[in-house]
Amino acid sequence: MRYTLTARWLHWLTVAAVLVIGTLGLWIGWAPPDDEAFKLRLYNIHESIGILMLPLTAFRLFWRWTHPPPPAVPQPAPLQAAAWASHALLYLMLLTMPVVGFLATNAWGFPLRIFGLVPVPSPIGRDEALAPVLTSLHGWMALVLGLVVLIHASAALVWHGAIRRDGTLRRML
Ligand code: HEM
Ligand code: HEM
Repeated sequence: MRYTLTARWLHWLTVAAVLVIGTLGLWIGWAPPDDEAFKLRLYNIHESIGILMLPLTAFRLFWRWTHPPPPAVPQPAPLQAAAWASHALLYLMLLTMPVVGFLATNAWGFPLRIFGLVPVPSPIGRDEALAPVLTSLHGWMALVLGLVVLIHASAALVWHGAIRRDGTLRRML
């Protein structure tokens, strides 16, 4: 029994997007290019794909609600709880990181135009006290997301896929 085709597409689309967003985030956060125009383009792509994670994840949860996943492969209770908690945390991060990142950008005084085309109204204005707090929160959340993704992907590929070979990985393929 597998997740529905739509659920699988949404999962792998999210994986690809998070890979791009994360790489760009680390690039602009830790090694920004000198070329100002290029740097702003990287920011815009990060922010545009990032903000789209919010509706994508909301739709994914709606889809999950209307199309419940197939029954899980039986696991010891602690592992089942760990899987549930990590999935919940992944969803929480996918919903809250775009909001915090967007508000941080607003607070620095930069309005967002998705891919330079669609303007997103700023709910808060420039706020020099709030901006560094939100940016730092966004950075810590990125660290948490990165760690959970590492655990999640290793559990799926190494534990379920290579060691137990229990069919859990196949549910998402
Ligand atoms: C799921 C969505 C998102 C993920 C996973 C994500 C991830 C990241 C990561 C990994 C970093 C590097 C953090 C660091 O090294 O300190 C970063 C930085 C940043 N993100 Fe996001 N981000 C997301 C959404 C957004 C959105 C929607 C915006 C704004 C509209 C945004 C704005 C920023 C900015 C401005 C930085 C650079 C901060 C700096 O200059 O140090 N992010 N993000
Ligand atoms: C190589 C990377 C990845 C692999 C192999 C993988 C594999 C899987 C598998 C096999 C499941 C189904 C688990 C089950 O049946 O209980 C799953 C679920 C899930 N994955 Fe991933 N995943 C990866 C990356 C990611 C990333 C980057 C994210 C998000 C940032 C993510 C978010 C989720 C979520 C939220 C679920 C729960 C689905 C649900 O039941 O609603 N995954 N993943």
